[in-house]
Amino acid sequence: MDINIQELIRSALDMRKMSYTPYSHFNVGAALLTADDEIYTGCNIENASYTPTNCAERTAFFKAISEGKKEFKAICIVGGPDGATELDYCPPCGVCRQVMSEFCDENFVVILAKSEEEYKTYSLDEIIPFRFNSKNLLG
Ligand code: THU
Repeated sequence: MDINIQELIRSALDMRKMSYTPYSHFNVGAALLTADDEIYTGCNIENASYTPTNCAERTAFFKAISEGKKEFKAICIVGGPDGATELDYCPPCGVCRQVMSEFCDENFVVILAKSEEEYKTYSLDEIIPFRFNSKNLLG
């Protein structure tokens, strides 16, 4: 599949700067590639009441879906604490994996990056096997 991984990593790293994280100080950026090659970015947005917090991945999905996008090729995720000089891999939480499973097929690519040079890729099937989705409800 035709994915410009470096461009996605750069977009996610850039968006990470917009994170609103006064409680965890853990900043996450995501860059979501649509089937028609547009990039929607998202950051995590926290809340004093904690549970309304939205992860970076879901921010990106909800921005894209609210703009009419429904098909996606890949998402890149970067994350780490405030002031980190080097990032570790930041795997998506279970809720974000479930949101991905609503809109993406088994070939959807999840890119976890530490930098433009250092990254790993996974398929949706690898990160959320045996998932509950519309097929269970609608057949
Ligand atoms: N976070 C994300 O944005 N994405 C993930 O998949 C993991 C966790 C955020 C939520 C919260 O703002 C902070 O990281 C610490 O959990």
